[in-house]
Amino acid sequence: MTETPWWSSESLWRKMAIWVTAFMVVVLIGLTFDTVRQITAGGKRVPSYSVINQKIFYEFDSERGFQVPRIGESQPLFGRILDEAEAKALVTLGKLTVQAKNCMNCHTLLGNGAYYAPDLTKAWLDPAWAHEDIREQLMLDFLQDPAGNARTFGSGRRMPNLNITEDEAQGIVAFLKWMSSIDTNGFPRGFSPLDQEDGV
Ligand code: HEC
Repeated sequence: MTETPWWSSESLWRKMAIWVTAFMVVVLIGLTFDTVRQITAGGKRVPSYSVINQKIFYEFDSERGFQVPRIGESQPLFGRILDEAEAKALVTLGKLTVQAKNCMNCHTLLGNGAYYAPDLTKAWLDPAWAHEDIREQLMLDFLQDPAGNARTFGSGRRMPNLNITEDEAQGIVAFLKWMSSIDTNGFPRGFSPLDQEDGV
């Protein structure tokens, strides 16, 4: 009978399985911490909530090959400068409303959701809002009465009235503004932002 070579011995492969599993557990724990760090508001990719006090615009990054969000001068939302806690409360109200009304049934946010309706990840900079000066009001009006302010973009699709209050609409606009400042590695692709003639 020929002897089993060392590399095919059962005990070697049993040990190998244990070591590889243990190693991957360590790698996964490391990656989890890294991901949490990267997706926490206040980090490099996901700015803190008070970013809604500032102008958010897109700039082509030739090294990375796509548009990236940049944070510019002061541009308070609804004419108010909010501290971090107030900004967080407003963005959270928007996020909870978006969850409660299940906007993802039709829209996509940060890669999650449906494609019946426009992707909302960069909706803050959608050219459909015509100009920065009227955008906030147009968004509030649209969210509170989407049927009456429908644009449809030739698709014939309409957003239903979801009984959103003025406060909730303000929260949603804050949530959308904050979300547009997140560095999503160029997702969604091929997005052209609204006219940014004012630069930084
Ligand atoms: C039943 C499907 C549906 C649901 C649910 C829905 N929407 Fe819409 N939404 C649409 C459609 C269709 C459009 C495009 C039509 C238009 O702009 O008139 C739209 C457009 C929008 C726009 C404009 C997008 C842009 O880039 O210009 C915003 C903002 C928006 N919806 C926010 C929301 C929010 C917030 C919710 C949840 C509270 C929501 N929608 C729920 C169908 C839906």
